[in-house]
Amino acid sequence: MFAKRRFISALALTAAGALTLGLAACSAGSGSEPAASGGSGDLTTIGFVAVGPEGAWRKANEANIQETFSKDAGFDLKYAPAANNDQKSQIDAFTSFVDEGVDVILLSATEGSGWEDSLERAKEAEIPVVLIDRGIEPNNTDLYVTRIAPDNIAVSEGVANWAVKTFPNGANYFTLEGPAGVSVVNERNEGWDEVVGADPKLVKLGAQTANWSTEEAKSVFETVLKSNNNNVQLVFAQNDEMGLGAVQAVEEAGLTPGKDVKIATIDGTKNALQALADGKLSFVAEYNPLFGETALEVVKKVLAGEKVESSIVVPSDTFDSPEAASTALPNRKF
Ligand code: AHR
Repeated sequence: MFAKRRFISALALTAAGALTLGLAACSAGSGSEPAASGGSGDLTTIGFVAVGPEGAWRKANEANIQETFSKDAGFDLKYAPAANNDQKSQIDAFTSFVDEGVDVILLSATEGSGWEDSLERAKEAEIPVVLIDRGIEPNNTDLYVTRIAPDNIAVSEGVANWAVKTFPNGANYFTLEGPAGVSVVNERNEGWDEVVGADPKLVKLGAQTANWSTEEAKSVFETVLKSNNNNVQLVFAQNDEMGLGAVQAVEEAGLTPGKDVKIATIDGTKNALQALADGKLSFVAEYNPLFGETALEVVKKVLAGEKVESSIVVPSDTFDSPEAASTALPNRKF
């Protein structure tokens, strides 16, 4: 049995796009500590609909969220990773959390679309939903409280600006994408195209998903090199693992990564920074996964009925040289 919530005011969307959710649990505290509620005595229950095993970025992000929402911090976080990146398993977990009456749901969506019914159910149950990393499409901001993520479009524009600057006389390039239908893939393409699309000297040979995977990216890019007689100077890999796969393909073709083919990636994990330090990658844009503290502050605000912006951007760095990577590596947390 869990304590029944009492909501003192309805959802209000302000002109500034900020979202104010007026609510208070029966045993809400002063707002400094999470409101106590359902199912776990005086702990706030969090349903975390997660992606699960996917790569170094995801591992760091989900570990950080779970470590932050600890029982010592006043939370009972229930972790529900997807089964093999399957959206249905996520929707089933989401539904279970609504039926269970958790206090807040955190959602990292494997697919950008197909969430309207689930989000409507959470709204009817007056359970706030916070998007972690991944957005939803259509971006219906009255169905969730906020999205916490680095700005994918800006991160990707940063990679594109580096590419334009690095190839003043032009280059042939190929894009290794994440899985089709994932919001961050569309956003990264948007940011890249915004900048590179304006530079006719950068010639797109093609784009293909390698599903965030090193092995798949190696296979895809081996084929790209063969079918273009190695006449490819640039790779935009939408995450580190795929960029490292492209490095392997370049080496197997007898070419030198960083010299014959420059590879730029997104995430900023240790392996990528090491490859940048070794000259095998040429540019790494961080997509900072460590925002558990930000998520915790947001959850506390929501439960205390305070205003929360509908989008919270996590700052991220870029690394454009072996020296920058070598400097960052000793203190790298992911
Ligand atoms: O949604 C973030 C992306 O998902 C990361 O860039 C990638 O590594 C992860 O799999």
